[in-house]
Formats: sequence, C-alpha cells, structure tokens
Amino acid sequence: MHPVKLKEGVYWVGEIDWDLRNFHGYSTQRGSTYNSYLIVDEKITLVDTVRPYLFEKTMQRISSLVNPAQIDYVVSNHVEMDHSGSLPLLMEIAKNATIITSPNGQKGLLAHYKKTDWKFKVVKTNESVNLGKKNLRFFLTPMVHWPDNMVGYLEEDNILFSNDAFGQHIASTERFDDEFPIGIAIDEAKKYYANIVLPYSTMVQNALSTVAPFPIDTIAPSHGIIWRSHVKLILEQYEKWAANRSEAKALVIYDTMWKSTEKIASTVQCAFERHGVPAKVLNLRYNHISDIMNDILTARYVCVGSPTLNSNMLPTVSGFLTYLKGLSPKNRVGLAFGSYGWGGQGVRHVESALKECGFQMLESINVQYVPDKNQLDEIFDKLSQEVANHLKPSGLQGL
Ligand code: FEO
Repeated sequence: MHPVKLKEGVYWVGEIDWDLRNFHGYSTQRGSTYNSYLIVDEKITLVDTVRPYLFEKTMQRISSLVNPAQIDYVVSNHVEMDHSGSLPLLMEIAKNATIITSPNGQKGLLAHYKKTDWKFKVVKTNESVNLGKKNLRFFLTPMVHWPDNMVGYLEEDNILFSNDAFGQHIASTERFDDEFPIGIAIDEAKKYYANIVLPYSTMVQNALSTVAPFPIDTIAPSHGIIWRSHVKLILEQYEKWAANRSEAKALVIYDTMWKSTEKIASTVQCAFERHGVPAKVLNLRYNHISDIMNDILTARYVCVGSPTLNSNMLPTVSGFLTYLKGLSPKNRVGLAFGSYGWGGQGVRHVESALKECGFQMLESINVQYVPDKNQLDEIFDKLSQEVANHLKPSGLQGL
C-alpha cells in the first residue's frame, strides 16, 4: 500500500473501492475511490478520510510516510460518511490532532459521532492556516454537496482539494488524468455532476467564482482521477453543466406493457430525427436512472412514456420521475406519452410530474389500446410540426 506523490510533501493516501456498484442508488459500474491527501510539513495534515472498511489500508499508506499518531490537523471538508466515516478510528490514533472544518462541519461531525472531546478549529471562508512552509486556505462551498462543504487551496503548490466537486466514481490503478482515458474521466465526472451536484448548480457557480482568482495547477477531488493536465477542460465542463446549458438532443424514456407505448416511443424518436435532432431511446427496464441522468445533463427534450397501470404510471416510470424531480434540471422541454386500455391516467401523471419539474411542455400523446399505422402517422405529423415550431428561434421561449 504505497502513497502517490502529487507535489513535494503532498501525497495521495486514499483507498480504492473496487467492488462498489451502488452508491445510495447511483449505479457505480466502475467502482470508486475515496481520496485522502497527506501534507507533510511542520504540521502534518490529512485532508479527508475514507470509508471505515478501508481504513486499515489507508493507514498503511500514511504509516509509510509518517507516524499517524503525529498527525496535527485532520481537514474534514465534508461530513458525509464516505469522507468522514473513519474519522473516529483515526482520532483514536492521532489523539492530539485538531479537526479543521466549517461551522456546519463541526455541527455535523458532533451530531454524527457524538465525540465531545474532539478538538476543532472552525474556519471562515478565505481563512488561511499555516502548516509550516505551506499555507492551506479554505473556502466554504455550502451545498456542494451538503451545507457543511468546504474546499482547501494549498497556496504554494496551487492544489485545490475540492472534495466532491470535480469527482468521479472510478476505481483504477491510475491516479492522474494524463494516465487514464480522458473521455471516460470526463464522462464519469459528468455522470457524477448529473447525479450528485446538479441540484446545487447555483452554488457551484458561486464556488467557481470564489476560486477563479487563484491559479490552479491541480484539482484533487475526493473521488476518482486527480486533474493536473486537463484542469482547464474540467473547469470548462463544470461551467457548462452549472449553467444548465442544454443541446438540441432528445431523450425518449419509457417503459411498456404490451409494446403500445414502445410503438409511440419509436414514432416520437422519428419526429425529432426528422428535424436533425438526435433522439436516444431508453427503456427504463434496461437503463439505470443514474445513467439516464448523465444524458439529461445536456439534452433539451425529455420525453417520458408510460402505459396506465392501476390508474397510474408504471412504477419504473414514477421512480425515474421522482429521481428526476429531485435532481432539478432546468431549461428543459418535456413530453408525456403513452397508451391505456381504459381511464388513461398514466400519461396525465407523467405530464403532471414533468410540469412539476418546471419543464415547458409539448402536447401530450395518449392512445387507447394499440396504435395502428394511421394513428402513428398522425402522431408523427403533429409532433413533427410541434418540434419544427419549437426549433425556430421564437419557439425556444427563453431556453
Ligand atoms: Fe463524496 Fe457528498 O460525499
């Protein structure tokens, strides 16, 4: 278990979670990492910890550099247990350490772990702590991703310890962006943004403005690959995602009982493609909702289909819509479609959920029984006209 050097006296001492496949409902097919960093200066400082089941391994990395009992500061950038979970174990060893955290961080750590004997140094935004030869400056970044979040900036090395921001769920032997396929790193960062950070995009914009005046050579997040050769690229991506900037792309997301809704899904796809709008078809039985969110991050048109079952949508569709609403993408256009035997409430529920997301809506499509060719042609013509109108500059209505 070896540490990995970032700069002189700065090391990655985190751990790789090869087996992780589900992170509170987020599908993590590539596993993950919990990145801890050790700064060896006059004050020995550990930035964030790992999940408790990986503590022993991370301690081996730390012990190869310093005596863990001599750690002076433990920076807790974020209370969520993937970063603070092994703090109680660590504080049993580093008995003299002081925890540096935000005001909400202190409240959160005390509420989680009930350790009233822990020593805290609570920092304000833009406060710098001297470690000896180097200085660690803190910026509070509330809601990126919890109210307690902050980031640290190591001034002499231009390293930003960004915690969840700029992270990706990737387990790999490589630590840096120039050692790993960059397309995969960006796509996993996008998926992470879409599933974790998206609701807090305004706060992300604030955080980006706060750190903008400082030169950044390295972004060291608490999950995944460390950015050192593609810092400009990932910052540009974050600016785009935080602005909720969408592209003329459509997603046709559905589930089906007897393939009537599937027939409509295919017609919806064709109506968009007729106007050169790429349309991706995603059956909820085969596509994980966290992967679909990755597409939603940049797609403008979100079309959702369900048959009616027991006066409602299919559970796969309602689950997806609940997840979507919570993640709160902005500036999107919605379409509800589906089929029914009697009643037809399923599409009305889909429409209502998409409206609750704040989407502009195209006219809903609701077909009784199995749509025949004439009905599908009619749906195609009508939707195609609506898409054409919408694609005109005057039809964008502020998007
Ligand atoms: Fe990686 Fe919000 O914890």
